[in-house]
Amino acid sequence: MSSPASSFGGPTLEFWQQRFESQRTPWDRGAVNPALAPLVAGGVLPAGARVLVPGCGAGYEVLALAAGGLHPVGVDYAPAAVELTRARLAQAGLAAEVVQADLLDWKPSAPFDAIWDQACLCALHPDLWFAYAQRLAAWARPGGTLVLLAVQVEREGRHEGRIEGPPYHCDVNAVRALFPAERWQWPRPPYPRHAHPAGIAELQVVLTRLAEPRGAA
Ligand SMILES: C[S@@+](CC[C@H](N)C(=O)[O-])C[C@H]1O[C@@H](n2cnc3c(N)ncnc32)[C@H](O)[C@@H]1O
Repeated sequence: MSSPASSFGGPTLEFWQQRFESQRTPWDRGAVNPALAPLVAGGVLPAGARVLVPGCGAGYEVLALAAGGLHPVGVDYAPAAVELTRARLAQAGLAAEVVQADLLDWKPSAPFDAIWDQACLCALHPDLWFAYAQRLAAWARPGGTLVLLAVQVEREGRHEGRIEGPPYHCDVNAVRALFPAERWQWPRPPYPRHAHPAGIAELQVVLTRLAEPRGAA
């Protein structure tokens, strides 16, 4: 199937669907990301918040957010991911919106209080990152929160300049360029890194969308 995302030559919907069907999903912890609970408990992701979970995969975080009294909206274009997330919610007796859509093509009905991007940016070909980051900025309400968990694979330069992925390595300098301080409130470093069972690390950056771009007249 042709889609805005796949037309850039990166991984396609069929690629991801096949990964779920063949259960080759090394990104899948089999559990909710342990980074989520402290952010809910600490009020960074407060009860009642409407939270977008782009590229929700098997849906652990959608479930955990719904269980914590937030209102998650999971989006994924792989039918298998949508089915897994809906089944997980149904099994737990929880309700949440789960949308099958290409994030490069999708328009939400209203902005979000928060966005939980866990390995979704890093699943997109880097040629798409700027357009995707613009979308995240438009989808977060002014004062809203972006939690970005960016995969650190650190293999650049070892493949004669070819871009290897997914996942695509996204270090803090790339995150700064995509989510500039003119538009997002940055906390002071250091930024936490979380170990992933697959042997990679996730860089966690929590940003606040500014009401007005800094420097605007
Ligand atoms: C690496 S997986 C991460 C899944 C989940 N966030 C996790 O960490 O377990 C990337 C997910 O993004 C979805 N995805 C990739 N590109 C997408 C796009 N353009 N639109 C919607 N979903 C997309 C894939 O289907 C897959 O479920």
